[in-house]
Amino acid sequence: MKVVTVVGARPQFIKAAPVSRALRAEGKEILVHTGQHYDKSMSDVFFEELEIPIPEYHLHVGSLSHGAQTGEMLRKVEEVLLAEKPDALLVYGDTNSTIAGALAAAKLHIPVAHVEAGLRSFNRRMPEEVNRVMTDHISKWLFCPTGTAVNHLAKEGITDGVHVVGDVMLDAFNYNTQLAEGKAHVLRDLPVQAKSYVLITLHRAENTDDPNRLKAIVNAINQLPIPAILPLHPRTVSKLKESGLSITNDNVHVINPVGYLDMIQLEFQAKLILTDSGGVQKEAFFAQVPCITMRDETEWTETVSYGANKLVGANTDLILQAVSEFKVDFSNIPSVFGDGRTAEKLVEIIKRGL
Ligand code: UD1
Ligand code: UDP
Repeated sequence: MKVVTVVGARPQFIKAAPVSRALRAEGKEILVHTGQHYDKSMSDVFFEELEIPIPEYHLHVGSLSHGAQTGEMLRKVEEVLLAEKPDALLVYGDTNSTIAGALAAAKLHIPVAHVEAGLRSFNRRMPEEVNRVMTDHISKWLFCPTGTAVNHLAKEGITDGVHVVGDVMLDAFNYNTQLAEGKAHVLRDLPVQAKSYVLITLHRAENTDDPNRLKAIVNAINQLPIPAILPLHPRTVSKLKESGLSITNDNVHVINPVGYLDMIQLEFQAKLILTDSGGVQKEAFFAQVPCITMRDETEWTETVSYGANKLVGANTDLILQAVSEFKVDFSNIPSVFGDGRTAEKLVEIIKRGL
């Protein structure tokens, strides 16, 4: 079994860590890094600390407009596929690297495995929604984290090749939680007490690229009544500069993006998590920390329906009200994202299907 895996963005490196381990135990993997994320804190740090194999190919595509970035990736992934002639191609999630990898393979009749298939926000203005819908429709194996994703696919007429395997992010989270206990150090250098701060992440284009939404969120952050830690995504750094907005609340510690082990520590020790990230919503659920999501909808609907996550959009008052009032009793919430052995399951399914 020879599989080409295409990754390019931070959450994909984290997801690749457990899957690459499982793939390389069963066959040959060729890892391709598109270069969508390239800062050390957005890329190298994950390869080093999670022991992800050094990519066999680095395409150095970098930051471009959607069409140019996706097009460059498509052209360069195709070259890799023509040279390597793999049995299958594997992609994760919903980024431009995902659709570029999947499309390059589909056009060459190389079967595509999509990890995190069937997720939907039903908001086609999100670039991620377009990427994930298209990728699902050209995949042979659709690895769904939950039954909700299976239902979404069925409504679009996709039933063949659909497997509920759980979520590889839980594999990564469980595997690295113990490592984080010994190696994470970010909290040592910050003047905050455990369980008394809000962990914030903010990067989603629908928030950062809309001046009104960004302003409403920054207003809320500047009025937070308790300390906060904000590892800031480079997209948000540049959008704040462009819009002339800034974080003026002295209790909000704005830091560079952190590695995964530090992030796990920040999540476990937080009183609350305030985010617009897909992955961080799930990790809040895994760590049993209440999550407030600055979006109008979420793909991770189970976290909301079990009462562990609250959607507040980009509304200053709703954000502040949720920070003051939102509480979660995790004692009766089941584990809905599998058993942490998703990587092995999906690799076995690909192997059997070849
Ligand atoms: C991308 C994904 C998004 C995912 C996110 C994870 C798409 C369409 N979006 O969004 O789904 O949630 O990754 O973090 O694929 N930049 C740097 N250094 C880097 C990377 C980015 O400075 O290493 C800056 C550049 O100014 C760039 C901007 O961030 O233009 C946005 O990067 P891009 O990869 O286009 O989108 P993300 O917002 O990171
Ligand atoms: N993450 C990290 N350091 C940070 C911010 C996030 O390691 O400074 C991790 C986070 O724990 C999660 C993943 O990055 O595993 C989420 O990525 P992101 O929020 O960029 O993208 P999304 O999940 O929204 O696509």
